Amino acid sequence: MRSHDCGAIDESLVDRQVTVCGWAHRRRDHGGVVFIDLRDQAGLLQVVADPDEESAFQTADRVRNEFVLQVSGRVRRRPAGTENPALNTGNVEVYAHDVTVLNRADALPFQLDEEDVGEAVRLKHRYLDLRRESMQGNLKLRHRVVKQLRAFLEERDFVEIETPILTRSTPEGARDYLVPSRTHSGRFFALPQSPQLFKQILMVSGFERYYQIARCFRDEDLRADRQPEFTQLDIETAFLDEARIMAIMESMMRALFDEVLGVDLPEPFPILTYREAISRFGTDRPDLRIPLELTDVADLMSSVEFKVFSGPANSPTGRVAAMRVPRGGGLTRQRIDGYTEYVKQFGAKGLAYIKVNDVDKGREGLQSPILKFLPDDAIEQLITRTAVDTGDLIFFGADEAGVVNDVLGALRVALGNDLNMAEPGWRPCWVVDFPMFEYDTQAKRWHSLHHPFTAPKTDHIDLLATDPGAALSRAYDMTLNGVEIGGGSIRIHHPEIQQKVFDVMGLDEKQAREKFGFLMDALKYGAPPHGGIAFGVDRIAAMMVGAESIRDVIAFPKTQKASCLMTEAPSDVSSDQLRELNIRLRKKPEPDKAT
Ligand code: AMO
Ligand code: AMP
Repeated sequence: MRSHDCGAIDESLVDRQVTVCGWAHRRRDHGGVVFIDLRDQAGLLQVVADPDEESAFQTADRVRNEFVLQVSGRVRRRPAGTENPALNTGNVEVYAHDVTVLNRADALPFQLDEEDVGEAVRLKHRYLDLRRESMQGNLKLRHRVVKQLRAFLEERDFVEIETPILTRSTPEGARDYLVPSRTHSGRFFALPQSPQLFKQILMVSGFERYYQIARCFRDEDLRADRQPEFTQLDIETAFLDEARIMAIMESMMRALFDEVLGVDLPEPFPILTYREAISRFGTDRPDLRIPLELTDVADLMSSVEFKVFSGPANSPTGRVAAMRVPRGGGLTRQRIDGYTEYVKQFGAKGLAYIKVNDVDKGREGLQSPILKFLPDDAIEQLITRTAVDTGDLIFFGADEAGVVNDVLGALRVALGNDLNMAEPGWRPCWVVDFPMFEYDTQAKRWHSLHHPFTAPKTDHIDLLATDPGAALSRAYDMTLNGVEIGGGSIRIHHPEIQQKVFDVMGLDEKQAREKFGFLMDALKYGAPPHGGIAFGVDRIAAMMVGAESIRDVIAFPKTQKASCLMTEAPSDVSSDQLRELNIRLRKKPEPDKAT
């Protein structure tokens, strides 16, 4: 149908006859001459039709945006002064002898080059949205990411192995998507939250280096960086310790950023312990581009009159922390009120602050509604410890430690962005030494911080029985600019230790057998020491293209409410299908309000 791609036509083809196909990207009428920018996957090409070629001109004149055309004509140099240096094809045009409309297009719900099109409209007509240059660029970059990751791993003898989609529950902390079985009436498959158990079993089977570009399914509250189905680069290895695995993964990321973006990531990545990350940044995925840190001040506040501070300062589960904002003294009352309002969503009951008008004047040089509650020595030490200077501001968080961390952690990022403090570039880091468990006060039980197959530190095994909250794991997360892009661990390879972990979580042997009997059995037949990691491919691609949401690097994503606006899934099913599955709905589904 065509002799060349539109985007491949250049000066070397001047005076040649060519045939090209594509979409009418734009059509302009200039005093009886029709110009069409013809678009195919390779790029844009200007086509000119004038009345000297009567039939081509008549057809071109009827063309509307996004008609599909076949054009034959002669390549010619554009007249001087009309070149377009932004296009590969910008020095030439095709003078049309023949224009065929291969297909028409209705008037579009939005123009492809229109900005600020609502996301609901884009998702409903995703086929059009994906024609846009930015979306084409995003998906092509994503393709290069996956291609580079595969190339790196294949060079190092990793083998790609597919694992089942119809399977049993794998606990990664979300709800399962369930699929009813027709042949086993009343029973359900779960879609995998990750290939975790299968990849461990592959290690038992002797595949020492596994990887998979794996689709995972999690029914959880969605956010900009969370989709109900997403893609992991999933990896598992045998006979490598965490230092070795982390080193390989680091070089993989460095090669990826070099290859796709031409960016040199730091070597080596800094390593933070979980405790240090929380203490300095309030989060286990710190954005290291932002030069703001938390400073503990509970010891200075334990006997102050101000109950807001002294309460948490004296509580074993409380935290009182200060965050110095260099040059933050310029923040108006209104801005501070704005931040106070902002942090409420993270549980803050207030947001105390001190403005430093003149650091040399001590108390007199400070300005704050809470000054009157603070004795001189607390103020003096506060100034030294936070190392504030004239013109700075200090924010405070005082509450249960978790609340303070969430509040100041989020405030840190908001301020860093609002005040343009974030340095440009890429700041990866590893976070290690995670606790094995966190206590769920509502359910009154211990949960794994990662997943229950994560190995405890070798000298913390005894703590599982005596003080589970103090046991640290052999897990490692990779974060980049404040986003968790990957997480993994060394696994438990002894069935007895696996049972000890289940015991902490309140799963006795019978329950553990019911859920994970196959894994417990496999571990008994010579399971090698093993460990691995999984990376969020969507997150990495989104960061690389600078997208706000991973939806922009997924061809057909779901909305915040986990539906697909284009196919209108999930959908009703017929009563026959339900009967076959032996399922009766307790309530008729409500008419769908999609998004
Ligand atoms: P984890 O649950 O940390 O680990 O997932 C690994 C990485 O996957 C990405 N990710 C997501 N991306 C988009 N939408 C989601 N809903 C979503 N959930 C997670 C994140 C995360 O770092 N089996 C373990 C890995 C292991 O231990 O080897 C696991 O799945 O970038
Ligand atoms: P109050 O005495 O409640 O008016 O609070 C005095 C100051 O402390 C105000 O600036 C509040 O925003 C702030 N504040 C109140 N609760 C907290 C808290 N839990 N952490 C930090 N600051 C707080």
